[in-house]
Amino acid sequence: MQASENLIECSLLPDKGWAGLFKERKLRMDGNILMTGAGSGIGRDTAFELARRGHRVIASTRNNERALQLKRAVEAAGLEITVQKLDILQPEDRDAALEWDIDVLVNNAGVGQSGPLAEIPLERVRDNFETNVFATLALTQAVVKQMLRKGCGRIIIVGSLAGRVYVPYIGAYCMTKFALEAEARALRYELKRHNIKVSIIEPGPYGTGFNEQVAQTKYEWFDDNSLLACDVEIIKEQERKLFAGQRSNESIVKQIVNSVESVHPKFRYVAPLKYKILVQLGVLFGR
Ligand SMILES: NC(=O)c1ccc[n+]([C@@H]2O[C@H](COP(=O)([O-])OP(=O)(O)OC[C@H]3O[C@@H](n4cnc5c(N)ncnc54)[C@H](OP(=O)(O)O)[C@@H]3O)[C@@H](O)[C@H]2O)c1
Repeated sequence: MQASENLIECSLLPDKGWAGLFKERKLRMDGNILMTGAGSGIGRDTAFELARRGHRVIASTRNNERALQLKRAVEAAGLEITVQKLDILQPEDRDAALEWDIDVLVNNAGVGQSGPLAEIPLERVRDNFETNVFATLALTQAVVKQMLRKGCGRIIIVGSLAGRVYVPYIGAYCMTKFALEAEARALRYELKRHNIKVSIIEPGPYGTGFNEQVAQTKYEWFDDNSLLACDVEIIKEQERKLFAGQRSNESIVKQIVNSVESVHPKFRYVAPLKYKILVQLGVLFGR
């Protein structure tokens, strides 16, 4: 289907006038931004920031309980945000999301499994792929269908710096984020001529509680009887290093906002700067 043949009103237009042309280089956003996994952490902070900046945001959460908590937080902050339940693993939830006529989809929902890759139970690796890769792609495919009819749109995928360099003992999670890099790259190339722009966000370690949760998953199966139980001290040291490097969310929220608002969004948005440099060096030296 050629997008231009089916051009419906497109909400993603550059600001008119001198400021729009030369200064701000930002989009005038009348469109609907759907954020997944917005009940906590980076997703929630970004949804709030986008709403503060005047965007129309649909913040979605995995379950109804989280949706209720988020609604209260939105009210307390005095913001206008539509809150919806959207478990990206559920086909009926993904279908229901299409009623919102999405202009920008921010695929932020994610989970992580940890532990030595040599012995992690395979169903945990599959589960990790199911959420981070397959459900993200399934929602994206559904939304892209709508965007093709409109003739424009924007897809943003929250990957990770762990999708470009390997981080020890979170191999399964890294595999999913490496896969998202390829997913984003392929979508960007294939959808470019249909006026659908695709970017990937690569956060370094942020103190949202996510890394602690990921680290904890391994202790559900990794114990004294494990093949690599002798490595437990090295594993704990890696955890400590990861937790010690964590930041607060502002810099990554700013990058996601940039990817939403920029007239010509880049393929990749990375923060914090220190990790951006470290990862560039890591990639350069083949780590
Ligand atoms: N924090 C970091 O250091 C870091 C670094 C690199 C990349 N990232 C990525 O950034 C994204 C956000 O992470 P975060 O740090 O903000 O952690 P977070 O607060 O745990 O956010 C992850 C969100 O995804 C939601 N989620 C999980 N499964 C879902 C599903 N099936 N359907 C809908 N939502 C689902 C979670 O909901 P529930 O809480 O209800 O399960 C949670 O709100 C993730 O993709 C993560 O991989 C984070």
